Amino acid sequence: MLEVTVCGVKLKNPVIAASGTYGFGEEFRSFYNPSELGGISCKGLTINKKEGNEGIRIYETKSGLLNSIGLQNPGVEHFITHELENMKKLSTAIIANMGGGTLEDYVRGAELLSGADIQMLELNISCPNVKQGGMAFGIKEEVAYEVVRQVKGVCKKPLIVKLSPNAENIVAMSERCCAAGADGLSLVNTFNAMAIDITKRKPVFNNVTAGLSGPAIKPIALRMVYEVVKNVDVPVIGMGGITTWQDAVEFIMAGATAVQVGTANFMNPYACIDIIEGIKSFMERERIKSLEEIRGCIL
Ligand SMILES: Cc1cc2nc3c(=O)[nH]c(=O)nc-3n(C[C@H](O)[C@H](O)[C@H](O)COP(=O)(O)O)c2cc1C
Repeated sequence: MLEVTVCGVKLKNPVIAASGTYGFGEEFRSFYNPSELGGISCKGLTINKKEGNEGIRIYETKSGLLNSIGLQNPGVEHFITHELENMKKLSTAIIANMGGGTLEDYVRGAELLSGADIQMLELNISCPNVKQGGMAFGIKEEVAYEVVRQVKGVCKKPLIVKLSPNAENIVAMSERCCAAGADGLSLVNTFNAMAIDITKRKPVFNNVTAGLSGPAIKPIALRMVYEVVKNVDVPVIGMGGITTWQDAVEFIMAGATAVQVGTANFMNPYACIDIIEGIKSFMERERIKSLEEIRGCIL
């Protein structure tokens, strides 16, 4: 009933834990069995291990969360030999989320992860391009096109490109990523934002800006998913501020094949489970046999 297929990968339900908010699943085992989920997008990986940013990394705002983690992660190879071994014991789709500072890093990471026992690769193009002044790969279409094209050239797993809402034009960006070979898209990542500590008269974050997520971004994320779905032929995974099953159903009605839940996991560790159960009850009440019946119904 809840099953969906994304790029040929069957998910038992449409709810995936979003990258960076669920680690590698370990912390959630004391609340429930992560095998209940449709999938887990692991913490963003980079070729080399990263310690992350100095200073404040998480800051709550009204209806949202600012983060500046700096992609703290154990590195691709450590993931494959350690964290993935544990994740593989779960019966849920494993999506390796990967970032990079250069084109070469992305390509090398994709080669390594392609040979590992993961179901999909999610390419995070919101990372700063260190060779081009630090502007994220996901802002300008032609920069994103090149990284997606090169990664696709070596990637043997379904390639999901995760779009930044800070892209100059989200629809044009989605089209260029598909032209470069994306098998699917996920959106949105966090919005560029900031906060100021007025007593210190300084920005809260060392990097000044940080990424905004959570309920505050949901209506904008939903609009972006809606616009992208109308213009591409690949499956879209929707996310941004989903905290309830009703939010998830909205994204599906806007055309998303599956959804990811991020910040809500910090507010309620059972958020993903509550959302799965809520969608199931809704389908029973409305006599919906498959999510295909409502997917994109508002388009
Ligand atoms: C603390 C934190 C860490 C994140 N780390 C990553 C990451 O490593 N890779 C990535 O693609 N997205 C990362 N994200 C973005 C989320 O996966 C998601 O796209 C975004 O938060 C919007 O969804 P939400 O409002 O449900 O959280 C992170 C978000 C948060 C809050």
